[in-house]
Amino acid sequence: MKESEARETIEKLRREIEEHNHRYYVLNNPVISDFDYDLLLIELDTLEKKFPSLITGESPTQRVGSDLKNEFRQYDHRYPMLSLGNTYSEDELRDFTDRVEKTAGGPVEYVCELKFDGASISMTYKNGVLLRALTRGDGTKGDDVTMNIRTIRSIPLRVKGENIPDEFIMRGEVLMPRAVFERLNNERIKCDLPAFANPRNAASGTLKLLNPRMVASRELDCMFYFLLAEELPHETHFDNLMNAMKWGFRVSDNIRVCRGIEEVMSFINSWESERKKLPYDIDGVVIKINSLALQEELGYTAKSPRWAIAYKYKAEQVSTKLLSVSYQVGRTGTVTPVANLEPVFLAGSTVKRATLHNEDQIALLGLHVNDMVYVEKGGEIIPKIVGVDHSSRNENSREIEFITSCPECATALVRNEGEANHYCPNYLHCPPQLKGRIEHFVSRKAMDIDGLGEETVDLLFKNKLIRNYADIYNLRTEQLIPLERMGEKSAINIVNSINNSLAIPYNRVLFALGIRHVGETVAKTIAEKFRSIDKLIGASLEELTSIREIGPKIASSIISFFADEDNILIIDRLKSYGVKFSEDGNKEPVSDRLKGKSIIISGVFRKHTREEYKEIIENNGGRNSTSLSANTSFILAGEEMGPSKKEKAAELGIPLLSEDEFLKLIGEE
Ligand code: IVH
Repeated sequence: MKESEARETIEKLRREIEEHNHRYYVLNNPVISDFDYDLLLIELDTLEKKFPSLITGESPTQRVGSDLKNEFRQYDHRYPMLSLGNTYSEDELRDFTDRVEKTAGGPVEYVCELKFDGASISMTYKNGVLLRALTRGDGTKGDDVTMNIRTIRSIPLRVKGENIPDEFIMRGEVLMPRAVFERLNNERIKCDLPAFANPRNAASGTLKLLNPRMVASRELDCMFYFLLAEELPHETHFDNLMNAMKWGFRVSDNIRVCRGIEEVMSFINSWESERKKLPYDIDGVVIKINSLALQEELGYTAKSPRWAIAYKYKAEQVSTKLLSVSYQVGRTGTVTPVANLEPVFLAGSTVKRATLHNEDQIALLGLHVNDMVYVEKGGEIIPKIVGVDHSSRNENSREIEFITSCPECATALVRNEGEANHYCPNYLHCPPQLKGRIEHFVSRKAMDIDGLGEETVDLLFKNKLIRNYADIYNLRTEQLIPLERMGEKSAINIVNSINNSLAIPYNRVLFALGIRHVGETVAKTIAEKFRSIDKLIGASLEELTSIREIGPKIASSIISFFADEDNILIIDRLKSYGVKFSEDGNKEPVSDRLKGKSIIISGVFRKHTREEYKEIIENNGGRNSTSLSANTSFILAGEEMGPSKKEKAAELGIPLLSEDEFLKLIGEE
């Protein structure tokens, strides 16, 4: 490969890996399995090793992914939070122990631990008291999630015992037990919220919630595996962990000191099957050098210690028969092929279906109906077919012909050049697209209309009561009551909720319209720049793309949405019902009691949410600020306000107002 080609491939891989990092760390919604992710990283690493001049400090091979979010205050890690080198192969593990033993000049003690699959956390304790808990962030600095961490019962807020350093850091993994995860997902599905892909995503998503009460209700757990301090009580990792356990930290019982690779392998092999009996997920075993002196001698690479390695278990695979392929049409018209499989048990549940993504994926697998296929559960909930057992193919096998017309409305399918998916262009009449748009319109983050879940929308659609989202505003209780499983009370609730949706602000209405590529954030930006729908309808491509966050893809999608006469008619009807299609003028403050005041909101509240307090401050002419300084007027202090903030406020002489005092100040109580 020429250097120019390598550069191109390297850049492509980096972009792809960054995108997966973002999905994994920030969105908590990975679309590929850890194994496939590791393969991408290995491919990049191999290429970079061949062309070392192309390595930059920004490459994902040189730094860890980042989970940082704007909503949290960030602090530097006293010691960087590195990741671990990992392997799926026994040979590579043997290379690791050989290398280590060569450096040591003889046999070495290893500590084998379970590799917990959750979200890592780093907690600083000062004089025995929990001071701060940070997420891994970008490895250098992390998000301050102390308030959330304090709700986890297995985390000591204060430690007691012998040999406790004045200041130390304890690192561990925040976990969601599988049983809690399943219960949470069932509840979310009932409320029309997206399910978490796995307990790891649920745990890290929970750590980033802004409401500690909600965190507390999710029953997280934590396992600790790494003690750091300027001076540690013992000379081995194992003894330090055992000491920390005596101080009150939850350290796993399943830790073994192993002498030599054979003992390490037997630990790994026994946990490969035993892990299914644990209440939470592990994805491998971590092997660490026990002696701190030898750890120091081995040192670190830019990204991980040379004194530890993770051996990862491959995702479980089973083989089963592909019975048929069916096709699903989504809200935006995308057609997804789905494999119908002979039911088979895999990693805790029976699998009957697997996604096939698109036509190219089917071709890539060389898949035929009646083939025996290998199925795996990756990062997603829906399992996928990872391979075909070509040797077992017989005369019953039939090539798969991708459908040419929509299974729902028979319109000829379209596949645009450069795109992998087929889609149904019958935007206006294809039932799943119509229903999907209505479901999106009523969803919580859009118009927030209660009682209109997927089933009810389906029912209303079948009974020809609605064809588009404007029809919702014509619904009357008398029409709803006779419907299956409805009743008077639910019907009244639905109609009330529809009326309440007239108060939903313009930016959310824009999001609710379901314009392709216009998500919540883009809708907010657009609403700020084009303060009424009429201004937006009249906007040109140039005007739209002149906004920093709006590229040509979003802009042309907006233009084509409003170029459609039917959409304009629907919008006109929505306007006539009173749906908000403009910003609420120059929002006049309710009062100017807080004029000129810069106010920090901190802690947990009983009477309003933090968001509501922010609004209250703004409505009374004040400004909600996030950084504490001498310019801060006062802190609206709820319960469980962090001790460090309290300390700093006292230092600066900034007053703390309780929730009640604040409400009194603005005349609410
Ligand atoms: S030790 C410097 N021990 O795996 C190395 N990590 O891929 C410190 N993890 O960021 C990590 N179980 O979140 C260690 N027993 C264990 C672990 C463990 C899970 C996580 C941790 C780390 C990641 C590395």
